[in-house]
Amino acid sequence: MNSALTASAPHHVAIVMDGNGRWAKQRLMPRLAGHRQGLEKLREVVRWSIEAGVKVLTVFAFSSENWRRPTDEVNGLMGLLAKALDREVSALHEAGVQLHFPGDRSALSDSLQVSLAAAEAQTVQNQSLVLNVCFNYGGRWDLVQAARRLAEQGIEITESSLSHTLALSHVPDPDLLIRTGGEQRISNFLIWQMAYTELYFTDALWPALDKSTFLTALQAYAARERRFGQISEQLSPTAVAAV
Ligand code: FPP
Repeated sequence: MNSALTASAPHHVAIVMDGNGRWAKQRLMPRLAGHRQGLEKLREVVRWSIEAGVKVLTVFAFSSENWRRPTDEVNGLMGLLAKALDREVSALHEAGVQLHFPGDRSALSDSLQVSLAAAEAQTVQNQSLVLNVCFNYGGRWDLVQAARRLAEQGIEITESSLSHTLALSHVPDPDLLIRTGGEQRISNFLIWQMAYTELYFTDALWPALDKSTFLTALQAYAARERRFGQISEQLSPTAVAAV
């Protein structure tokens, strides 16, 4: 990785990992084979992110709406998460990855809930990358759970109190969203947290995403001007002095 990109790398990258089903279909394979390959890709993207200087990576692994998929596929995705926890956590721990699983866990099996909590506890001190694997997550669910919790505690709902009660309160908002698979929408992902996130869409199907496309997304981000509601001239210190 060249140091120029590391210096301007987005701190927090969010990813909608879309296209597993189509990738499998193109190869006359079952959809679950696409998800398995998707998990392999996630392992690579974690490595590329660390190399590029990204500090937080947040991926959408199972949405609140994914329960509507055929039962076999839902069970397959649950099984894949269980297998990933069994097989990947120690290597991620060694690589210094801090794991979080934002989402509604109450609908998951007891054994999955125990494994998720154990993986989070084991990796809590790690510093090289924070990896949020959003599972049974939805942006609307997140807003409702946060509002409910604040109401229960009698805390006034403000931008600040809400932000601090959302499922990603341990990290700053995403700087860049990458969505693979050709669709250009948010799909109820981090709807509050992405108010100022830069968006990057690629036709690459998630299991086929290559490193150069990933790095192109980071470079595209580095070339964007983020104004957060201000005008260009306010962003450069010399210009600010002149305004
Ligand atoms: C969307 O592709 C992908 C998902 C719903 C699942 C994403 C899961 C992984 C990448 C595997 C990692 C999983 C775990 C458990 C950590 P799609 O199925 O909608 O693809 P399509 O649009 O081509 O049908």
